[in-house]
Amino acid sequence: MKFFLDTANLQEIQEAASLGVLDGVTTNPSLVAREKGDYLENLIRICETVKGPVSAEVVTTEYDSMVEEGRKLAKVHKHIVVKIPMIREGVKAIKTLSSEGIKINCTLIFSAVQGLIAAKAGATYLSPFVGRIDDTGHDGMVLVRDMVQIIELHDLEAQVLAASLRHPMHVLEAALAGAHVGTMPKSVFDQCFKHPLTDIGLARFLEDYKKSQAQGAAG
Ligand code: E4P
Repeated sequence: MKFFLDTANLQEIQEAASLGVLDGVTTNPSLVAREKGDYLENLIRICETVKGPVSAEVVTTEYDSMVEEGRKLAKVHKHIVVKIPMIREGVKAIKTLSSEGIKINCTLIFSAVQGLIAAKAGATYLSPFVGRIDDTGHDGMVLVRDMVQIIELHDLEAQVLAASLRHPMHVLEAALAGAHVGTMPKSVFDQCFKHPLTDIGLARFLEDYKKSQAQGAAG
């Protein structure tokens, strides 16, 4: 499963990219609104840092304007993936833009049939929002499993991008479900590295090594 960071913050992206296991970035208008500076310049910096797919979302909802925005965004950098919401006009825009070779991430997917439609329209990535479904008292991971199954059963090219992941268990379950990508905030990415037994084990190894060196020097 590829790891994407769900942020528009360049510092977070630089930190994660420096570890060598970051495959891409997803942004959305809410995340972009938190950042200062010129939006398109920030996007270019993000693309050059991550050197992989960077989703940038359209902020209009009519077919013509989404297509226009999508074309403009796609020209910003070769790594840009245009993010389009799963609405009827959006599906039309996905069809047009994907036919032009522009990569699309269809966002705000809350049912497997919506995902199937977006895949048929030519989206490269399908984004089911796991955490937001969990928030309603339902199991968001069921959607990821269903979508992966549909992609495999029907030999579709789209990739399931498990989104709105809120903790490492979501990341684990998405990977076990066969999601092609998981996108997560930097806080969740950082949590995925941690295990208390790793820290305890490492401290003990280093302590034992130090002791053995001291003994060697004394003996
Ligand atoms: C993904 O593309 C979305 O931007 C994101 O995962 C939404 O996450 P949230 O539900 O935590 O805002």
